[in-house]
Amino acid sequence: MKTKIFDFRNNQNYENLREATEIIKNGGLVAIPTETVYGLGGDGLNGESCRKIFEAKNRPMDNPLILHISDISELKRLTRDVKDSDLEILNKLWPGPLTVILKKSKIIPNEVTAGLDTVAIRMPNKEITREFIKLCETPIAAPSANLSTKPSPTSTKSVLEDMDGRIDAVIDGGDCEIGIESTVLDLTEEYPKILRPGYYTKEKLEKFWKIVYIDEGLNNINLTPKSPGQKYKHYAPNAEVQVLIGDDENFRKAVKKILSKNQDKKIGLMIFENDKGKFENENIIYMGNQNDLSYMGKILFDSLRKMDENSVELVVIRGVEEKGYGLSIMNRLKKSASQNVRRV
Ligand code: TXA
Ligand code: MG
Repeated sequence: MKTKIFDFRNNQNYENLREATEIIKNGGLVAIPTETVYGLGGDGLNGESCRKIFEAKNRPMDNPLILHISDISELKRLTRDVKDSDLEILNKLWPGPLTVILKKSKIIPNEVTAGLDTVAIRMPNKEITREFIKLCETPIAAPSANLSTKPSPTSTKSVLEDMDGRIDAVIDGGDCEIGIESTVLDLTEEYPKILRPGYYTKEKLEKFWKIVYIDEGLNNINLTPKSPGQKYKHYAPNAEVQVLIGDDENFRKAVKKILSKNQDKKIGLMIFENDKGKFENENIIYMGNQNDLSYMGKILFDSLRKMDENSVELVVIRGVEEKGYGLSIMNRLKKSASQNVRRV
């Protein structure tokens, strides 16, 4: 299969959008840009298309998909028992990097929900993508458009690295602004609960819901996380990844030790601007300012992919404290490092 690229970086040429729509209507797969990461889209009400998504990604069938919608009114036919107060809040937070778990309606195929009684729904904050969903006249089921276990793609280049020849087309909407996936929030219990931390933090969501819990299964390896995706290996480059957390002095000491002990290895560093000039190494990626993690989030997955491109064998990453957006970033880093995280 040859994967077509529809260039929408400047939002022009709506004729192409119609061609992409035809692919979805015929049961094919089109990767879509969103503000978080690229999604691997298929017709969310067509079980056969959804099966193709799992195949293209090598995704375990028990990991359910997110349905992407273009208008909040679509919730009516996809879900049941939604609280009015939740609807009011979603009206304010959507479109945006928030996925909600709701009770599913009968029309949703089992492939989407992996047999669960609930469904994940999100309205992405990218105009071209909402326009596309609207033209498709169906919710678009879309997991991140990477091969299973690999870092999520934040550009068309990354999508093609994993999916060229495996999907019909990609809508190129340029680089994703946020760079890590949406917050997954369960709304099926008395209080909302974060099942996957993302750009919208607990603190931000508590401005709307007052009390928001975080799934205990996320950080306790003895509990099963409520979001099936959280239990899998994820975000892993080919290189080994080590995450170190500590103050400037201890962090730099620890890195220098690793560099001198592993002189036979190609090592890459992902560090902050204030570490500039502190290490002798050719593979350094700067992740912006430690006090504003938005840039780190934006380039995180792309940087892991770049390390592989440069045949780096060991990536040492400067970790951050697990609070605010740092919690979401560390959730991804711990997985890409297979829990190889050390305080120094
Ligand atoms: O930002 C995002 O959310 C991106 C873009 C493309 O929208 N999508 C994304 O999809 O990250 P994916 O499939 O990589 O992650 C979806 C997560 C998985 O951890 C999955 O287990 C969880 O949502 N999920 C889906 N349906 C669920 C359900 N009914 N109950 C609990 N968790 C669910
Ligand atoms: Mg994913």
